[in-house]
Amino acid sequence: MQTNPHIQEQLEAWVEENRGHAILGTTAQYIPALGKEDPSQLGICMIDDNGNYYCAGDTDKEFTLQSISKALTFIALSCNYGLDFVLERVDVEPTGEAFNSIVPFEIHRPNKPFNPFINAGAITISALLPGQTSQKKYEFLLRFLESLVGHPLELDKEVYDSEWASSHRNRALAYYLKEAKFLEIEVEEALDIYIRQCAIKVSTKDLALIGLIIAYDGYNPITKVKHFSDEIAQVAKVLMVTCGMYNSSGNFAAHVGIPAKSGVSGGIMAAVPPKLHSQTYEFRAGAGIGVYGPAIDVQGNSAAGTMMLRQISKEWDLSIF
Ligand code: DON
Repeated sequence: MQTNPHIQEQLEAWVEENRGHAILGTTAQYIPALGKEDPSQLGICMIDDNGNYYCAGDTDKEFTLQSISKALTFIALSCNYGLDFVLERVDVEPTGEAFNSIVPFEIHRPNKPFNPFINAGAITISALLPGQTSQKKYEFLLRFLESLVGHPLELDKEVYDSEWASSHRNRALAYYLKEAKFLEIEVEEALDIYIRQCAIKVSTKDLALIGLIIAYDGYNPITKVKHFSDEIAQVAKVLMVTCGMYNSSGNFAAHVGIPAKSGVSGGIMAAVPPKLHSQTYEFRAGAGIGVYGPAIDVQGNSAAGTMMLRQISKEWDLSIF
């Protein structure tokens, strides 16, 4: 299939139009290795169901998954143990609080973390990955991700070390989880697997491809491989809509309307399901989107990336709602 030059030109124009929105955010200062990134970067890759990539802006750069990894751990764990096993241990309710808040626990004293995308829920489920050690758990996740993107992935050691050294809030959360008996392994082991998964390096192309597979309910329409069940993909998309952008998920649903997961590195992975009644022809058969824009807003989402997705979704009628 040939790529469409009109789509390419549009994306290039929209990257430049939205780049300035980076001033609405700053790089993630609480993880020093992320804090030193150039905040003006903005890039996007989209992939269609035929495997055509459209990439514009700063897309050569690799960056770490951060919270995007939470959606992938949820899927990998559900594949291995079944969805019921995972949903017995973590709920699917948004909190309306910051991603690293301890408040929902203190106030509601739930019998399991509210959802797998807040840090508390993510630390809980990462600890459940198969393997006796955090290294083995990490390897399991890495192999799963490599099977999705089709090439080897690696850890960004500098980002891992930087987060490990500054992870006081997550350590506090993990102790809280241990006390509440949500954590079956030791706190340091749980933190190790969680911080490792956050430090896996990806490109916007990788995120776009995984987004496409999620949009297609676990099926890769290019290689024709079914990676995970419809049921797992559906719950993953529900979580992406309700919790994927944290306490601005409602706004994102209203103005973008695409299941998505963000990370404090400035990455966003979005899954555009097929929409046969779309008002435009672009990406009617669905798409995957990977965005990188390291200046993040107060909720932890790429500031310019979110504004760019808003424009793209509106222009090409990509909202699922
Ligand atoms: O645990 C943290 O704070 C980071 N490793 C990940 C947080 C994150 O990406 C939230 N995202 N938007």
